[in-house]
Amino acid sequence: MVDNNYFLEVAIDAAQKASLVISSEIQNELRVDYKGETDLVTNADLKAEEIIMETISSSFPDHRIITEESGEKVSESEHVWIIDPIDGTTNLVHGYPFYAISISVYSGNKALAAVVDHIYLNDIYSATNGGGAHCNGKSIFASKTNNLTNSLLATGFPYEHDHIWAHNIDLFRTFTDLTQGVRRAGSASLDLCHVARGWLDGYWEFALNSWDIAAGALIVKEAGGTVTNCNGSKFSVFGKEILSSNGFIHKEIIEHLNN
Ligand code: IPD
Ligand code: CA
Ligand code: CA
Repeated sequence: MVDNNYFLEVAIDAAQKASLVISSEIQNELRVDYKGETDLVTNADLKAEEIIMETISSSFPDHRIITEESGEKVSESEHVWIIDPIDGTTNLVHGYPFYAISISVYSGNKALAAVVDHIYLNDIYSATNGGGAHCNGKSIFASKTNNLTNSLLATGFPYEHDHIWAHNIDLFRTFTDLTQGVRRAGSASLDLCHVARGWLDGYWEFALNSWDIAAGALIVKEAGGTVTNCNGSKFSVFGKEILSSNGFIHKEIIEHLNN
C-alpha cells in the first residue's frame, strides 16, 4: 500500500512544477478567456493543469483525476486526485496576490494528502491524514479565539448571482455585525489555509466545487480545526459547501448561518 507521505511528495512535486509554469506565463503574457461573464480562465490555468496531471499520472497511471479545467480522467481506482491549477484566477489576472495551486488525493470521502501552494508568498501548505498540517515544513495550528465577537472570519461569493449569492450577502452583513470583520479574498483554498494557520478564526462558503476545498479541508482538520457542512452535518468533499473554524466558535457560526 502506498504511504500518504509518498502521495504528498508527488503532490508537492506537481505543485512546484506548476508554480514554475504559472510564474513563467505571468512573465510572458496572460491570455484571458471567459467561461462565464465573470468566470475567467487563462493560459496559465491550462498549462499548470497539464503539468500537474502529467506528474500525477506518471506516478499513478491508474488513479482517477478530477480537475477544474479538463474535467475528469475516469478510472475504477478508489484513489481520486482533485486539482485546482489556480484557485483565485480573477486575482491572478488583476495582479492581486491571493491565488494558489490546490492538489489533494482522496480515497472515497477520506482525504489522504493535500498541498496548497500560495505562489506569490512561496508558502507551501501541506497535510497528510493523521500527520498534522504544515507551512513550509513547520507545524501550523488553528487559532484559540473562543467567541464570535473577537473573531475574524472569511467567506466567498459564487460567480452566479442567484439566490445563494443574495443569501450570502445577507450573511455577510450579519457576521460583519457580530465579529471583528469578514474578509473576502477570492481564493477558497487560501481562506482554508488561513484558518489552519490561525490568521482567520472561521470561513464559510456555498456553491463551491470539490477542487476549491478538497486540499484546504484536510489542512484545516490536521491543524486542529473543525470542518463541516454549513448546517453542521458531516463534511463531504462533493457537497458544494464548507464551514471551517478553529472549533471553539463553530457552534456559534452554525447558529447564525442557519437562523
Ligand atoms: C474561486 C475562488 C473563490 C470562490 C469561488 C471559486 P477559481 O475559484 O475559490 O474564492 O469564492 O467560488 O470559484 O474560479 O478562482 O478557481
Ligand atoms: Ca477554485
Ligand atoms: Ca481555478
